[in-house]
Amino acid sequence: MTVQFLLPKWFDLHVHLRQGSNMVHYVQAQIEMACAGVLAMPNTLPPTAKILQQDDLPYWSLEEYRQMLLDAGADAFEQLIVPLYLTKDTTPNMIEQGAQSGLLQACKYYPPHGTTNSDHGRPLANFMENGVFQAMEEYGIVLCIHGEKHGLKGPDYFDSEINAERSFYEEDMVKLAVRFPKLKIVAEHMTTKEAVAFVKKGGNNIAGSITPQHLLYTVGNLVQGLRYHLYCLPLVKFNADLEALRQAVTDPKNTKFFAGTDSAPHTKKATECGCAAGCFTGGVAPQLYAEAFEEDGCDLGAPENQEIFKRFLCTNGPNFYGFKPSEKTFMLSKTPDVAKPLKMDNGETVTPLPVGLERPELAWSITDIQS
Ligand code: DOR
Ligand code: ZN
Repeated sequence: MTVQFLLPKWFDLHVHLRQGSNMVHYVQAQIEMACAGVLAMPNTLPPTAKILQQDDLPYWSLEEYRQMLLDAGADAFEQLIVPLYLTKDTTPNMIEQGAQSGLLQACKYYPPHGTTNSDHGRPLANFMENGVFQAMEEYGIVLCIHGEKHGLKGPDYFDSEINAERSFYEEDMVKLAVRFPKLKIVAEHMTTKEAVAFVKKGGNNIAGSITPQHLLYTVGNLVQGLRYHLYCLPLVKFNADLEALRQAVTDPKNTKFFAGTDSAPHTKKATECGCAAGCFTGGVAPQLYAEAFEEDGCDLGAPENQEIFKRFLCTNGPNFYGFKPSEKTFMLSKTPDVAKPLKMDNGETVTPLPVGLERPELAWSITDIQS
């Protein structure tokens, strides 16, 4: 008999929905994979980095970007969180204003120049000293962290024993957690065993999100054939890291790790002399997460394992952010399906991950999405 089970609709607590006419397609891709709500990243062009439209700063406001998302179809979501991009202009007053107005639930730290549209980021130490993190701690605002040390030279950026994420979690994050012991922190798109260890060791105010690609692939999959659709930041890592990540999500006691796809559409991945960072998993993420669980030996035919999967995909994230899991459902079945490129109005396409790896087959499929 085909394995199939009912799940609550899930929440993608880290996704890039961009700006402009493509947004509707990116939102639709979320809806088609039974996503009940999102945390939509603020590395838009321009960045979403002020609270109110009338504030005199050259950014989009939370209000404005939210409205754009709603107009693009995000009004179908049960939850829509837009974190504030932390820039040189972020002040403790803005945090207070945002918290009191109810518009601000989270802020996003980007390492300066560390990834796509992160040029407005400032070093972590700035926000530790200028009162921003202190205000966030006081008002219960979640800090979403892209955990990589910035400005490293190649050999320290990525090597077998050291990399930008490992250094960040072993040095910067330890200082941050000691200095602000009550600050709610999400270690986003974790890729290393060191990041897993950090989150496990932390209190209940510290959690982590994990993408499908970091649960399925290693750097070996990326370099074998230079599969640039798998190029995202932080980079996929090594076998031992993959094992630590899988162990974290399949642990029956997992309350701290949850889904955040970091689905990051690029209509142009390869450039003249480089590659845009970001994997697109719109439409296919729960199917890929299910595949990763089974790769780890977690048989999703067993009810107790379905429960573990449900916690990771559907309930741990809402519990951490403080909202209710969805009461609507969808069916996940072990029936083969095929992933397809997403078409934009202007004829451009975005290639989802398994297609980008020239393996469009999906082992799982989604049906019966309650609207
Ligand atoms: O690979 C990535 N792509 N990592 C990020 O942090 C940003 C994202 C994007 O916006 O494309
Ligand atoms: Zn991201």
